[in-house]
Formats: sequence, C-alpha cells, structure tokens
Amino acid sequence: MRRRGAFAAGRVDRHRLYEQAVQQVDFEVDQVDALFRRLRGRTPATLREDFCGTAAMACEWVRRGPERRAVGVDLDARVLDWARRHNVASLGEAARRVRLIRGDVRGVRAGRFDVIVAYNFSYWVFRTREVMRDYFRRVRRALKPDGLFLLDAYGGYEAYEERVERRRERGFVFEWEQARYNPVDGSMRTYIHFELPGGRRMERAFRYDWRLWSLPELRELLGEAGFARTRVWTDPDDDGRHRFVERLDADACWIAYLVAEPRATSTVAQRPC
Ligand SMILES: C[S@@+](CC[C@H](N)C(=O)[O-])C[C@H]1O[C@@H](n2cnc3c(N)ncnc32)[C@H](O)[C@@H]1O
Repeated sequence: MRRRGAFAAGRVDRHRLYEQAVQQVDFEVDQVDALFRRLRGRTPATLREDFCGTAAMACEWVRRGPERRAVGVDLDARVLDWARRHNVASLGEAARRVRLIRGDVRGVRAGRFDVIVAYNFSYWVFRTREVMRDYFRRVRRALKPDGLFLLDAYGGYEAYEERVERRRERGFVFEWEQARYNPVDGSMRTYIHFELPGGRRMERAFRYDWRLWSLPELRELLGEAGFARTRVWTDPDDDGRHRFVERLDADACWIAYLVAEPRATSTVAQRPC
C-alpha cells in the first residue's frame, strides 16, 4: 500500500507513525491470500478487520481487486474518521467496497466473511475467559463455513518483564514500553512512544490495557467457542516462511498467529507459505 509519510506537510501524525512502525499490510494481505488459497483452494473475497484502527488492512484488501470487499470495525469514532480521510480517501473507486463500522466487535452484524482478522494483539483488551469466549463465538458465527479467523499473539519470558524496547524506523524511533504486569490477574499496561527528529518525544502516543494471554489458553477458548480446529502458524526459522507448528523454542520473545477454522475441512500439507 502506498503511504504518505508520517511527517507530511510538517505535521507529525501519530497514526502514520504507528502504521509505519507496527504494520506491514501488503505483506499481511499476501500472507492471508496464500494461506487461504492453500487451505481452501480459492481466493478469499471478503475480510472483516476487527479493532481496525486506521483500517489499513481493510483498505489494502479492497485495493487488490474489484471482487474484494472489506469491513473494518472499531469503537473509536476519531480513528475511523482519520481512516476515512486518509486511507479510504486514497482508494479511488475501491473506496465503495470498504465499509467502516463504529462499534464493539462483539456487537457487529455485517454478514458473513471469508476471513476475519484481529491483529496486533488488540483482542487482548478482553480480559476474562467469559468475554473472550463470547467474542470468539460471535466471530465464528460471522464466518462462512470455510472461513478462517486469524489472530496474533506474542510471548516468551520477556513478555512478562517491565521493560522498554527501542527500534529505529525511517525518520524516528519507535518505543514499546511494557509498563506494568500483574501476575495475579495477568493484566498489563503498555505504551507506544515515538522519538522524533531533533530529540522531540511523543510520549504515550498509544496506551493499551490488556491481559497477557498464552497460546494454550487461547486455543482452549477458541475450541469452547465452537471452532473445530486451531493451529499455531509461525516462522520458527525467521526466514519469512510461515508454517504450522506443534512445538516452539522457549525463546525470550516470539510472535505467532492462531489460525482458527469453524470446520476442519482442509487437508494441509506441511508446506510453508
Ligand atoms: C492496537 S489498535 C489496532 C490497530 C490495527 N488493527 C493494527 O493491527 O495495528 C486497537 C484498536 O482497537 C479498538 N478497540 C478496543 N476495544 C474495542 C472493541 N471492543 N471493539 C472494537 N474496537 C475496539 C481501539 O479503539 C483501537 O483503535
């Protein structure tokens, strides 16, 4: 997706900084397409992007062809307004095929989808098993019978630490702060900060209050919500090739996707994509 820079017209835009530092929507749509084709033998046409924020993925989805439609869902009217003025506005005729809904992902009724994604751990905003299971159940009902639900997760012993990680991006520094973790209920508070040219800081540009969930907890809940099969899909060799795994090394930090299927209809070869 072609993006305008985060520093366009001299104004620093926290949403652009976020997109540049955190998202790679071209790659993510490529990945979803390849996985869906491999598991289902067809190209997916409809996407629901839950917790869509700037709807970058929904916009990239519809950009890929006239048969493609996307719905983005977010609670925050301001970020959706930003998405409409920037990402949707730059789509041209494809803008007709993306719809943004302001609301709770648990309440949305917008038809049935080939793919539903909840990326960048946003669904960790649900902090009890009951609420998470309810969300998963509603997602399952909103999928076509051969649809896929994709969500990401991270972990490793560093995930429990109160720490700050810095990463240099083009033109700025991205900081991820794990400010607090409470072992009693698993709740955590994190922030994103940006350091701008000249040393100026954009402190607490984003704040998240989440529960740090584990893969087995999430897989169990997906099963209880009626998904027939949930597998862990990751890039264990860090060579850009994702595959389904049954084991992962106990690394300091790992990221993986969960791929949940309402019906286990695929016959999968262990071929990476
Ligand atoms: C981390 S951003 C996600 C941005 C984008 N999806 C991504 O992959 O980077 C989290 C978003 O979730 C939204 N959100 C939080 N709780 C929500 C809920 N229950 N229903 C819908 N959106 C919610 C927030 O308003 C925020 O825009």
